[in-house]
Amino acid sequence: MKKVLILLAALGIVGGVPLPAQADPAADLKEFRAFYKKRFPTVKFDEYSNGLYALPGAEARRAEWELIMEFPPYELALEKGKQFWEKNKLASCFRNGGKNIAQNYPYWDKKKKMVRTIELDINDCLKRKGKKPIKKGKLAAVTAYMKSMSRGQRVKLDLSAPGMRKAYEEGKKFYWAKRGQLNFACADCHVQGAGKFVGGNILSAGLGHGVGFPAYRSKWGSLGTIHRRYRGCNKQVRAAPLKQDSRAYRHLELYETYMSTGLPLTAPSQRF
Ligand code: HEC
Repeated sequence: MKKVLILLAALGIVGGVPLPAQADPAADLKEFRAFYKKRFPTVKFDEYSNGLYALPGAEARRAEWELIMEFPPYELALEKGKQFWEKNKLASCFRNGGKNIAQNYPYWDKKKKMVRTIELDINDCLKRKGKKPIKKGKLAAVTAYMKSMSRGQRVKLDLSAPGMRKAYEEGKKFYWAKRGQLNFACADCHVQGAGKFVGGNILSAGLGHGVGFPAYRSKWGSLGTIHRRYRGCNKQVRAAPLKQDSRAYRHLELYETYMSTGLPLTAPSQRF
């Protein structure tokens, strides 16, 4: 708690940022990108896929990270994810055998009228095969394997369904709304606070969020899903963390991923 308070004080954010009033996603996207371009003129667009290591001031961290990525700590988990994928013939449930499709997630399921994530689809596939659902590290590892087959593909979501647009608006609201005892929005830290030092860390830009996940975090000692990361960020401001694939997190992931349109997928990755 004390650490968080010091962290927030260091940020020096008082008023926070207002929810952008744009009425359509394409305009939101333009505004979001323009903000970072102005804040970090030297950072190349594709670099945002690398989280905080893309940002000025993170050079020492980045050197450390590049060294770690030579022998990534997630290799073993990724191999296990691959074995699980093959043993359960998960490829049969996905278009193109699951290859080069992760850039289109999350997507709108017309039949079920809901936003679907890779994690949900993996468990749905298992269910159809009469198998038990998987959770936590195992779910992250299998998701990481599937996403690894789409590495380098650029994020491209289809927001044309009215239900998808509504979900997008919900996710956007979640992102910009203050929450928790400390009353912080995602945007306070990752838009206005991006690039600032807090507790030995540099706050990543919201641009690029999700494209490197599942990620292996030294703190976790394992691969974790993007929703696990959201839980951590909620807890930091003393807000209630939500469940993997809860409606709010799926819609939040949709908003964040759409804001990363055009960026190459780098998952799995490593984060400190
Ligand atoms: C009090 C500040 C704070 C708030 C508020 C906050 N985060 Fe974070 N977040 C962090 C810190 C610190 C990290 C680790 C360093 C980094 O990567 O930014 C992080 C990391 C992340 C990452 C990982 C990025 C990557 O590529 O490694 C994502 C995604 C993320 N946050 C999303 C969110 C979302 C969504 C919200 C709102 C629900 C949120 N954060 C709210 C501080 C915050």
